[in-house]
Amino acid sequence: MQDSKASAALVHTEHLKKYFPLRRNKESAFVRAVDDVSLDIYQGETLGLVGESGSGKTTLAKMILGLLQPTESTIYISGRDVWDKRNKKELRSSVGAVFQDPASSLNPRSSIYRSLERPLQVNGYSKEDARRLIYETAEKINIGRELLTRFPHELSGGQQQRVSIARAILLKPRLLVLDEPTSALDVSVQAQTLNELLNLQQELDMTYLFITHNLSVVRYMSDRICVMYGGKVMEIGKNADIYRDCVHPYTFSLLSSVPPLHPRERNRKKHLLSGDMPSLVGEIQGCRFASRCRFCRDICSQQEPEMREAAEGHFAACHFAGELEF
Ligand SMILES: Nc1ncnc2c1ncn2[C@@H]1O[C@H](COP(=O)(O)OP(=O)(O)OP(=O)(O)O)[C@@H](O)[C@H]1O
Ligand code: SF4
Ligand SMILES: [Mg+2]
Repeated sequence: MQDSKASAALVHTEHLKKYFPLRRNKESAFVRAVDDVSLDIYQGETLGLVGESGSGKTTLAKMILGLLQPTESTIYISGRDVWDKRNKKELRSSVGAVFQDPASSLNPRSSIYRSLERPLQVNGYSKEDARRLIYETAEKINIGRELLTRFPHELSGGQQQRVSIARAILLKPRLLVLDEPTSALDVSVQAQTLNELLNLQQELDMTYLFITHNLSVVRYMSDRICVMYGGKVMEIGKNADIYRDCVHPYTFSLLSSVPPLHPRERNRKKHLLSGDMPSLVGEIQGCRFASRCRFCRDICSQQEPEMREAAEGHFAACHFAGELEF
């Protein structure tokens, strides 16, 4: 099942939606966690995904991983529909995931070796082949053989996260989804883990979807950056487009809290966010950022903004993208 439109990118979504059903006063309602997201992730790149808590990042990631079924539309990986049963086995080994809390993803009653061996057995590896691959992968990510015989509670947070990464890359996935992979780690371990992830990406030619609240980390890690708000993509572009020349008021406010790196950014004004994200339950009219946007005009609360191209490959969902002076 090859969709020609979908095959140019490693990951492709078009008008993807996830609405979680809610029961309120006997009436059904929905949380529009991901609402009409069209996105490409290209082979070999790191796409950073940022946005406030509740903006839909994890929901989007779980749909891409095949862990959550979309309410509408689907996801294509290498042109193949993730939700087509015929592709399930092949696609399962082409994606891997690392989440924030390594302890919760490891079985406390299994040794590290067993935790690494199990997914290989499920995929038909012999004991001998599994052992070879586990040793090879452990070496790549600096897990000494003595650690393999231990149990998760005997490892530090950084070591546990390294084991989660090892498990995610065992089957040599083409796409690795990293959802806040270093947020639970000490700062020094964080930096080391990020560098290891960059080295691994090169060595194994992987594509990353990197999700984090930490805007300095996403800047360090990403080729392109996608900014989400209220279940929608607000702005997407190359790293420099976003950090130096963002055109969406939400991105500008988000970045106002980050220390400047480039001389051009030092004199930039700041505009910190205030207020909360609007409820994602029920019909939402107009621009989702309108209630917090200092540039809001009549049209903003009436009409939902389309994606506008500010520069090549740089898009923003704002009626006035490219016309506003920050
Ligand atoms: N299983 C669920 N049932 C109902 N609502 C859900 C469910 N999972 C997520 N949501 C809601 O969907 C919205 C998006 O949540 P999601 O976890 O994707 O956000 P996020 O951007 O990953 O946030 P965070 O930065 O805190 O991890 C939130 O309003 C959340 O409450
Ligand atoms: S569309 Fe209007 S409310 Fe929305 S970000 Fe642009 S200026 Fe602000
Ligand atoms: Mg999340």
